[in-house]
Amino acid sequence: MDSNKRPETMARITTPELASAFIDEQVAAIRAQVGDKKVLLALSGGVDSSVVAALLIKAIGKQLVCVHVNHGLMRKGESEQVIEVFKNQLDANLIYIDATDRFLDLLAGVEAPEKKRKIIGGEFIKVFDEEASKLEGISFLAQGTIYPDILESDGVKAHHNVGGLPEDMQFELVEPIKLLYKDEVRVVGKALGLPAEMVDRQPFPGPGLGVRCLGAITRDRLNALREADAILREEFDIAGLNQTVWQYFIAVPDMKSVGVKNDKRYEGWPAIIRAVNTTDAMSATIEEIPYALLHKITSRITAEVEGINRVLYDLTPKPVGTIEWE
Ligand code: XMP
Repeated sequence: MDSNKRPETMARITTPELASAFIDEQVAAIRAQVGDKKVLLALSGGVDSSVVAALLIKAIGKQLVCVHVNHGLMRKGESEQVIEVFKNQLDANLIYIDATDRFLDLLAGVEAPEKKRKIIGGEFIKVFDEEASKLEGISFLAQGTIYPDILESDGVKAHHNVGGLPEDMQFELVEPIKLLYKDEVRVVGKALGLPAEMVDRQPFPGPGLGVRCLGAITRDRLNALREADAILREEFDIAGLNQTVWQYFIAVPDMKSVGVKNDKRYEGWPAIIRAVNTTDAMSATIEEIPYALLHKITSRITAEVEGINRVLYDLTPKPVGTIEWE
């Protein structure tokens, strides 16, 4: 039987009971595969890698070594949440690497979006590889491959230009959720006790805020983007839109306009709100954000975020606009 093919008899995991049966089955399968050997996992904090981590911790505890690479392009609070949940709450064997300076130094002055993606993806592999080579006795590599990855791209994570791993790594793979669809991964994640905001979160591109800090990334503009994005997320949470809107974020272009603050003229960047709905990310419609909420977000961002003096609302569906700005 092709182990990469979902059996037609496999029931869709929609309830905590079904999730718990799946978890028991996988825990046994992981133990049988791994024995007393060690397993390595690149833990980004995204839904898939987080669920794989939680499953493996349940199955083999400290035999799992998680490596979380902070590329400096994470959203506000994300790396902290990975540490809080996995190290503090689940007592995982977690190696945290703050590689912010390495990434931002390499990206300095680089404007072309695809070049930025290549640099981020390439450096991620380097950092992970360096860390892996310091560890002894690792026999397995765990991956958060899910079924759409197998269907769409021969088992390689389609969108994983960050999180892709060195091709010459000689590890046997452990892929416990490779036959699951995304909604099932979320049900399993909840049954494993992961926090809802981790399990339900919206898609976030591997290159992170790197493709939302448009053009050449600078630290001050990246910080402004991160703060503005956090305000947008907070206000969407309060309004309940986090439950319904598929993807929402701020992009900050590399241009300034004149504004006034405290009776003085000053130049600032605009923060662009993007909030879209879609089923497959191939086409997308615009979420109609209520005006009162737009006004609240605008006043908070312009008052609280250093360097931002305007807030714009992107009304372009896909096509013609892509979801991301670059
Ligand atoms: P676009 O901008 O092409 O985005 O309409 C479609 C979906 O893909 C995500 N996206 C990426 N995800 N690495 C990723 O992991 C990337 O380089 C990348 N570019 C776009 C985007 O966030 C949206 O969900």
